[in-house]
Amino acid sequence: MSNLSSDLVVRFENVGLRYGLGPEVLQDIYFELEAGSFHFLTGASGAGKSSLMKLMYMAMRPTRGLISLFGRDVAITSRKDLPNLRRRVGVVFQEYRLLDHLSTFDNVALPLRVADTREAEVRKHVEELLTWVGLENHMKAKPATLSGGQQQRVAIARAIIARPRLLLADEPTGNVDDRMAYRLMHLFEELNRLGTTVVIATHNQQLVERLAHPVLHLDEGHLQLPTKTRGIYQDNDGEDSRPAMPYDPDVLNYL
Ligand SMILES: Nc1ncnc2c1ncn2[C@@H]1O[C@H](COP(=O)(O)OP(=O)(O)OP(=O)(O)O)[C@@H](O)[C@H]1O
Ligand SMILES: [Mg+2]
Repeated sequence: MSNLSSDLVVRFENVGLRYGLGPEVLQDIYFELEAGSFHFLTGASGAGKSSLMKLMYMAMRPTRGLISLFGRDVAITSRKDLPNLRRRVGVVFQEYRLLDHLSTFDNVALPLRVADTREAEVRKHVEELLTWVGLENHMKAKPATLSGGQQQRVAIARAIIARPRLLLADEPTGNVDDRMAYRLMHLFEELNRLGTTVVIATHNQQLVERLAHPVLHLDEGHLQLPTKTRGIYQDNDGEDSRPAMPYDPDVLNYL
């Protein structure tokens, strides 16, 4: 029965969402995400991916139904406790939402500084992660002077720097080339290996097919639950047979 609920990071039951007086853009949504799972979220433009993400990071409340995060019913969580819940969630917004007046370094440092991390640690971790995503020469740059793909990488670094328990990334590789897209996916997988539950919304069908993660699919506001997919990195025994990673796999172990 529900004695396993503490291992559920996200639980939606009969959830519906409408904006204002408009039609329901999400209907009868039921799913659960177990701690440590990794899912893709797919669906055509307008299918409701970002809306589902908004519910998961508590930017909106559902019009109907029940949402639990980390085993707690969001509807009865007090305003005082919401920031605590939110701090456990890292979000890569589809439109980045970087702070314009802060440098790349300071944008990424923000979650660590909020958590009162010592400045020497902040410097070490932020520099290491920014180097890893190829932005070592742009640490002092303001977002407005960066390309779309560079801003996207800053947003990713900021979302993962404090090692959230749940990472929600909305089209996080939409503006980078294929090589960088796979590099970023490896970063998400490494974070996941260290315990973070991950959901990646994407239009990139090639990524979805090549990486062996279950797919949540939205079709005009209806969610289809994962069918077990087999990626090219799984051999016949289901063992992970991918080649050694092209980077230091300990890159996230400092966190
Ligand atoms: N703020 C809003 N007010 C009114 N309707 C909205 C709002 N945001 C989204 N919608 C509607 O909700 C539906 C789902 O939008 P959503 O942004 O969740 O789709 P999506 O799957 O993320 O699309 P994309 O792939 O283009 O990012 C669409 O019909 C959209 O018009
Ligand atoms: Mg979207």
